[in-house]
Amino acid sequence: MIEYTHQYYERYFHENYNGPLRRGCGAEECLAWASRSFQAGRWLDVGAGPCSFFWASAAPAETSSITLSDRSMTPLEITRALVRRREWPAAYQEAVRLLNKSARHLDALCEVPISVLAFDAFSEWPPLSPFHSISAFGLLGLASSSDEVSAFLFNAKRALAKDGMLFGASWIFRPSYAKRLGDRKQHLTVLPKILSDTGFGEISLSRIPLPFEQDYAEIVLFRGRR
Ligand SMILES: C[S@@+](CC[C@H](N)C(=O)[O-])C[C@H]1O[C@@H](n2cnc3c(N)ncnc32)[C@H](O)[C@@H]1O
Repeated sequence: MIEYTHQYYERYFHENYNGPLRRGCGAEECLAWASRSFQAGRWLDVGAGPCSFFWASAAPAETSSITLSDRSMTPLEITRALVRRREWPAAYQEAVRLLNKSARHLDALCEVPISVLAFDAFSEWPPLSPFHSISAFGLLGLASSSDEVSAFLFNAKRALAKDGMLFGASWIFRPSYAKRLGDRKQHLTVLPKILSDTGFGEISLSRIPLPFEQDYAEIVLFRGRR
């Protein structure tokens, strides 16, 4: 079981993308995927955790607003505090360099309106103004049924502006890790079919094997346009 406590989110922030960027674990590919998928305009990050500004390294300078959402406000407050401090962790700075963005890229994104919102991504979403980009990194693999994956994709499509893009990545658990998490099952084999059934266009999926990772076997990258 994952316990979504204050300590969980603090530890998550300090253990993920905080030191130098770990090479060969898929982060470079995920950043390139995000960079190719992001659209100018309004960005919603779902299941954002405390790491949205790592992925913001791939957002275009023409981002006009940022909405961070998660099941809990705690990780969003961690990001808000980071935005106030603007002391970017090493991997965030490395990601900016990797993507050939200006050294001031993340500082500049702090100037756009940033809002935070807590909701359950796998059930009904609150009413939202349309977004041009919706990202979900590390979220879909947590759905506990294919119905939850469907609910997420249905809501995401409805929250996208015309021609807006949904994109993200999910980490596939190794059996030993799934067992440690309480026999957790993942429901991602249905992802291509549900993307198509939900009416997304330009659907694209890719896999990154992770032969040297203890807990994760691979990363599934996905993208679909409204
Ligand atoms: C593995 S973390 C990923 C965080 C971040 N997106 C990243 O790339 O590092 C998963 C996040 O999804 C959130 N989450 C889990 N279930 C959720 C749900 N049903 N609705 C919204 N967020 C959820 C958790 O609170 C957590 O912050």
